[in-house]
Amino acid sequence: METLFVGQNQYFLPRVESTNTYATGLLRNVNIPEGTIVYTDHQTQGRGQRGNSWIAEPASNITASIILNPLFLGLKKTFCISKIAALAVHDVLTENLTHGQFDIKIKWPNDILVNTRKIAGILIENQVQTGRLAHSVIGIGLNVNQTEFGDVPATSFKSLLGVNCDRKLVLSQLCKHLEKWYLRLKKGAFTEIDQAYFQALYGYKQSLSFRDEAGLVFDAVLQNVTEEGLLVLVLDNHVVKHYDIKEITLLR
Ligand code: BTN
Repeated sequence: METLFVGQNQYFLPRVESTNTYATGLLRNVNIPEGTIVYTDHQTQGRGQRGNSWIAEPASNITASIILNPLFLGLKKTFCISKIAALAVHDVLTENLTHGQFDIKIKWPNDILVNTRKIAGILIENQVQTGRLAHSVIGIGLNVNQTEFGDVPATSFKSLLGVNCDRKLVLSQLCKHLEKWYLRLKKGAFTEIDQAYFQALYGYKQSLSFRDEAGLVFDAVLQNVTEEGLLVLVLDNHVVKHYDIKEITLLR
């Protein structure tokens, strides 16, 4: 592992309900070093965003959670953790998908797409203590060697490259890129982070289809993502609206 701390302390579990739940449990009981990673070959009750489940074929993918302690980050900037996690996964993909036409994008808030198919999902669970961000559990599900996804428009390294990939190697790349972006965040490189995030953001400044809570489907321009992580849309009648993750779904 070519890192200073991310991934240096590892818990490998052959089978576990959810690496995020396990990592959160660790934080309750023991003094855990920052950068600790929990990963498994078989996640039986993987959790996704919006209360969805995350189903991954055993021993084929990356299902991992990394613990960070971003005490230095103002609570208003919590969404930066989402940005750097998405950028880290984005960089892992860029490092591996070198031959061929691959359009690697971050779909708000932090899904990762290749050629509009989902290859990774991120679930971040934050713990605030005495007004500070004490712990972030960054859960990452990355499709590596799985090739069957049923009706879901998903993809994986193997689906894209046609060969099996070394999951251990991909995991170490993930730790390396996450540490790189985390250290940038720590030194306050917000402009660099934002530039990279918006450059990789799927549909940025473009007209896309959305579905709101009431089930209404509409087109709007993805104008911005606020510091708090809210999606800013410009509707057909030029009205500007802000949405949080529970209020809207970005359709393809
Ligand atoms: C999503 O796309 O909805 C987010 C999926 C996050 C899945 C990962 S797999 C490792 C970690 N443990 C979990 O239970 N969930 C995350």
